[in-house]
Amino acid sequence: MENFNFYSPTEFVFGKGRAAETGSLVKKYGGTRVLIHYGGGSAVRSGLIDTVKKSLDEAGVPHCELGGVQPNPRDTLIYKGIGLGRNENVDLILAVGGGSVIDSAKGIALGIPYNGDFWDFYSGKLPEKALPVGTVLTIAAAGSEGSGNSIVTKEDGMLKRGARNDILRPKFSIMDPALTQTLPAYQTACGATDIMAHIFERYFTNTPEVEITDRLCEAVLLTMLKETPRVLADPDNYEARANIMWAGMIAHNNICGVGRQQDWNSHNLEHELSGLYDVTHGAGLAVMMPAWMEYVYKHNVLRFCQMSTRVFGCQMNFENPEATAMEGIHRFRRFLKSIGMPINFTELGAKEEDIPVLVEKLGIGDGKRAGFMELDRNDVIEIYRIAAHASL
Ligand code: NZQ
Ligand code: ZN
Repeated sequence: MENFNFYSPTEFVFGKGRAAETGSLVKKYGGTRVLIHYGGGSAVRSGLIDTVKKSLDEAGVPHCELGGVQPNPRDTLIYKGIGLGRNENVDLILAVGGGSVIDSAKGIALGIPYNGDFWDFYSGKLPEKALPVGTVLTIAAAGSEGSGNSIVTKEDGMLKRGARNDILRPKFSIMDPALTQTLPAYQTACGATDIMAHIFERYFTNTPEVEITDRLCEAVLLTMLKETPRVLADPDNYEARANIMWAGMIAHNNICGVGRQQDWNSHNLEHELSGLYDVTHGAGLAVMMPAWMEYVYKHNVLRFCQMSTRVFGCQMNFENPEATAMEGIHRFRRFLKSIGMPINFTELGAKEEDIPVLVEKLGIGDGKRAGFMELDRNDVIEIYRIAAHASL
């Protein structure tokens, strides 16, 4: 196991009806004027925004609001939020929604105290200061409620890039699984795929002797395999929703990834797809993650066999370990298909002829991308090709 620091200061407030505690949590974390940030309307329609406002009013916390965050959140709304937040003198950003809303809120939180263009932090500059962010989560997926990451799309050129620092971890996150019951099945499944991908990005490592995090990863994956079909069959199943919601947090606050080298190439390749075609991140991952697996499994066949046997219930074929590795990857893809995910470019709405554009945007040049297996330009092209043609 490698040396690590693990700092996860977020207070998680989990369970039914907890959004009514927003006002007191905002006060606890020093908020005296709040910008409520939300998406395209689901949180308004469900009555959640009213609940949040009532709670803030009861706690005597003045607030302004900015809705309209799109999935794959755009820089343009963040600039608007920075302007509004400065004019209104807000000192805490309250994100009510999913990963897109939370990531947009983190962008605003970075931009308000910064004397420059907030995009600098999405182009490599390390953030040092940000306003506190609180969240009321409405979808189990990105894990931004517990992560120090924010992923934003620059509208000019549709470049999707990330900022990362522990200062971006929310001060508090309210997680009421019942709020996810209004999700369309497709978004539930996209979220489940993203959660599993966050684990796989950590699971495929070159670091030896990481039994504890391996086992934590496997527990989350097994939970997702069990609970995702349950919520799709019965969207009001609170217990299954609760397990998925907590799995989504555990999958990405890095408790499963500490002390081990991680990969993230599937995510980086996917971000170019959701950047170019504006597809849902989880759907893009359903296409990219198994394609990446198929391309890299020979780098460490036995690690893939471990996934196949422990997670997907395959029998180990000692004479032909590669067959066991591939069987696990096939079972993963079949699972994704069974929950309604696309598995190739056509089903996703992507085009094979755009592969050069995707590779160009990735900016790999003549270099290599680090990870479980180092990837150069030709490797990336091959992975996109596998993704373009994948079938069951
Ligand atoms: O905008 P509204 O109307 O709220 O609709 C949203 C949106 O259309 C809808 N939705 C959310 N909660 C709902 C609901 N509909 C009905 N009932 C509810 N309770 O779902 C749609 C998707 O929402 P979004 O916030 O985009 O989903 P998600 O949480 O999957 O976030 C995706 C974004 O997070 C980024 C992705 O790249 C993508 O941009 N990621 C962020 C990460 C992070 N910050 O740590 C890590 C991830 O790997 C990921 O890259
Ligand atoms: Zn993700």
